[in-house]
Amino acid sequence: MSVKVIIGAQWGDEGKGKLVDVLSENVDIVARYQGGANAGHTVYIDEKKYILHLIPGGILRENTTCIIGNGVVFDPIAFFEELDFLKDNSISTQGRLFISDRAHVIFPYHKLIDQLKEESLNKKKIGTTGRGIGPAYVDKFNRSGIRIIDLFDRGLLKEKIENNLEIINRDLKEIYKKSTVKSGEILKQINGYIEKLTPFVKNTSKYLYDSWKSGFSIILEGAQGCLLDVDFGSYPYVTSSNPTSGGAITGTGLPPQSLQDIIGVIKAYTTRVGGGAFPSEETGETGERLRKSGSEFGATTGRPRRCGWFDVVAAKHAVRLNGFTELALTKLDVLDEFEKIQVCTIYKLNGEVIDDFPASTKRLSSCNPVYKTIDAWQSPTDHCRKFEDLPDKARLYIEYLEDTIQVPIKYISVGADRRQIIFR
Ligand code: GDP
Ligand code: IMO
Ligand code: MG
Repeated sequence: MSVKVIIGAQWGDEGKGKLVDVLSENVDIVARYQGGANAGHTVYIDEKKYILHLIPGGILRENTTCIIGNGVVFDPIAFFEELDFLKDNSISTQGRLFISDRAHVIFPYHKLIDQLKEESLNKKKIGTTGRGIGPAYVDKFNRSGIRIIDLFDRGLLKEKIENNLEIINRDLKEIYKKSTVKSGEILKQINGYIEKLTPFVKNTSKYLYDSWKSGFSIILEGAQGCLLDVDFGSYPYVTSSNPTSGGAITGTGLPPQSLQDIIGVIKAYTTRVGGGAFPSEETGETGERLRKSGSEFGATTGRPRRCGWFDVVAAKHAVRLNGFTELALTKLDVLDEFEKIQVCTIYKLNGEVIDDFPASTKRLSSCNPVYKTIDAWQSPTDHCRKFEDLPDKARLYIEYLEDTIQVPIKYISVGADRRQIIFR
């Protein structure tokens, strides 16, 4: 009865997609529990690249059933685009992909508002992916959202869309000075999807519960990362969901005691896309070198990722909040050519030592990193398949991180390909 949850321990893009792929061999079910098509999870299989946004990574394993859980905000347009991509790559989804009847639906007006709100923020842009995530979760928590199940009650759907558009259109006209959206057009578009969605819709929380109770193996695939968590991340520069382990419970309906392994995915350095504080960021030559070496460009938006060193303060915050039982350290190979590696051990703010990730946006953005310098290994690791194959100094780096964060590093990723992984 094994449920594993795979969670980003930093600001997203840690390599969750790759780890889900590696660990989903022979796994019965893979489920997404939060976020939506803002995610970009990359998997390389024999040099072929797959980027998944909404559909769980388990879809690349032919015997695995995939679930889009109730906590996800579901964009039908993005979903059918992704289905086409999978079909073009001869991946069948027939009978093995299901969407929760309780998941909330993203409509084009959510994406429009997301983009217009961002434009209006001037210098304080969050840098969202523009996928309508925030506005869709606003409707959910405002209790005006439209769930998958509501699509099948035509009268209710019409009423809800008309009600929601009253507010959206008021904002479009009065705040953003834009033309309004017509309910007829929205209804016509969504009506084109409803029948196609029917075979995918399920009471997924019951399905997951029954599967867990029957002893099936389940992976819950987190999107984004702990530092983008709406409660515990670098608020307001966060996403609008809970990527942390609590979100895996509310976003699937599985009970807390079902979680057996809570796996944090953490890069050997740090990246972030979008706005907000990043204490160990390197904005100069070193940042550029990390970006180039790690090909750090967003899988969803193509934006260059901001790069910096490993941050122990942030990592300990993530460990405490998620209860990680083990870690996967990714992109170790990206550091292969560096002469020295830095690790941010604490922050300092006006002489004060800060070892707990601050809640205050202002304090976090004023924190200065204090570094420990580590001698690097300067030799390739991408061919290593056992811990013993790694250069001595790479092993020392891993052991140092493990001792500092106090969670066993069980997986080490040394390249983008499925096979470039060390099980420890
Ligand atoms: P996710 O959102 O957490 O799934 O991560 P992304 O897919 O957005 O970004 C991770 C990127 O790093 C992708 O391009 C992966 O193919 C790549 N990647 C994953 N693990 C490794 C690794 O160990 N080494 C290298 N060099 N690339 C990796
Ligand atoms: P994966 O799953 C990295 C960031 C955006 C922005 C903030 C809010 O691939 O790790 P949103 O569109 O969610 O309202 O944007 O969150 N963001 C991500 N950054 N990886 C992601 O997903 C992200 N999803 C959202 O850049 O700063
Ligand atoms: Mg990503």
